Amino acid sequence: MGPDAIEERVSSTVVSLNKQRYRVLIGTDLLEQIGTHVRKRSARKTCAIISDNNVAPLFASRVEESLVAAGSRPTLITIPAGEKSKTLKQASAICDQMVAAGLDRKSFVIGLGGGVIGDISGFVAAIYHRGIPHVQIPTTLLAMVDSSIGGKTGVNTRDGKNLIGAIHHPLLVIDDVDALRTLPAREFNQGFAEIVKHAVIADAKMFRMLQSWQATEAVALQRLIRRNIRIKSKIVAQDERDQTGERAILNFGHTVGHAIERAGEYRKFLHGEALSLGIVAACAISTNKAGLPADQGDAIVDLLEKFELPTKLPKNFSRQKIVEAIKFDKKFEDGKVRFVMTPRIGKAYLTNKVTLDDICAAIAQL
Ligand SMILES: NC(=O)c1ccc[n+]([C@@H]2O[C@H](COP(=O)([O-])OP(=O)(O)OC[C@H]3O[C@@H](n4cnc5c(N)ncnc54)[C@H](O)[C@@H]3O)[C@@H](O)[C@H]2O)c1
Ligand SMILES: [Zn+2]
Repeated sequence: MGPDAIEERVSSTVVSLNKQRYRVLIGTDLLEQIGTHVRKRSARKTCAIISDNNVAPLFASRVEESLVAAGSRPTLITIPAGEKSKTLKQASAICDQMVAAGLDRKSFVIGLGGGVIGDISGFVAAIYHRGIPHVQIPTTLLAMVDSSIGGKTGVNTRDGKNLIGAIHHPLLVIDDVDALRTLPAREFNQGFAEIVKHAVIADAKMFRMLQSWQATEAVALQRLIRRNIRIKSKIVAQDERDQTGERAILNFGHTVGHAIERAGEYRKFLHGEALSLGIVAACAISTNKAGLPADQGDAIVDLLEKFELPTKLPKNFSRQKIVEAIKFDKKFEDGKVRFVMTPRIGKAYLTNKVTLDDICAAIAQL
């Protein structure tokens, strides 16, 4: 195998923030090499592999074997799959199991799974013995292109999502695209909602590439994942702690998206599906208030549909419930809210000129 072939099998990108730098490895057959990659970066031996009951039977044994072969001592902790596991109670139960397994401040945590596992395992790593290293092994497209990058970890409370958390950047992220083969189509497609979002806010060239996207080849997917990681990490680097507004542009489509998720009681739509609808609403608002050309708005909707994402609300879905969720979620000052608009594909900015009426009008059109 020549060097080019190796380059195609594993590529890597560096997430570079103010105080932190970490590598994301992207490739195939990576699960089998985890032990060696972790070993290169840390002499720590004992670890918890935190996973869920869908993902653990598929991949945990490969990860465990690789770690053992490299001299580590892993303890597998499996929690029920799904958002309902992202709680303080579950985080506490994980910590108890880690204590029982003899893990201490010299141990580390591996999160093996989608965004739910990434968020809760990262949170546990942030608080266990006041913080131990975290290795992310995302197994959903959404987690690879979005949730594993940026260091946000946390859990939900009864009243809202991600209300408790910490910024805790990983030591290493390992994206094995082979793991995506077992992902149900709906879960795979929802990852494209965040990818389309990245294209709209920051990368017109990627937008055009996605319009002709047909690849299912691992190499094309690897390149796409790497490009999205770079977009997100560049934006995060400008505003790591969400203070100056730069990071907020990643929330494009999310004001209405989150409200739709909530109105559907987190059952009706997956996050990426609700986001897709939120992007459609944000485009309508951008056409009215930011001069987004109508044909570009249409192209965004077409692209979402290409990835089988919803762009219209079911007729019987209560619009009122969405509006109530927005009022619950967002602070309106003088009837206005912070909102991300796009004036053209590849650009976005935060404004405080959008009113509840503007948002209601966009929801009514959905
Ligand atoms: N931290 C951040 O910056 C950030 C950003 C975006 C989203 N998130 C969070 O991410 C979560 C959503 O992530 P998600 O969509 O990955 O959800 P998820 O972790 O619930 O995974 C989706 C489903 O797919 C299953 N699964 C995962 N990998 C699989 C595989 N390879 N094969 C078969 N099944 C597999 C899981 O068991 C689960 O049932 C939310 O909790 C959201 O708040 C966090
Ligand atoms: Zn999102």
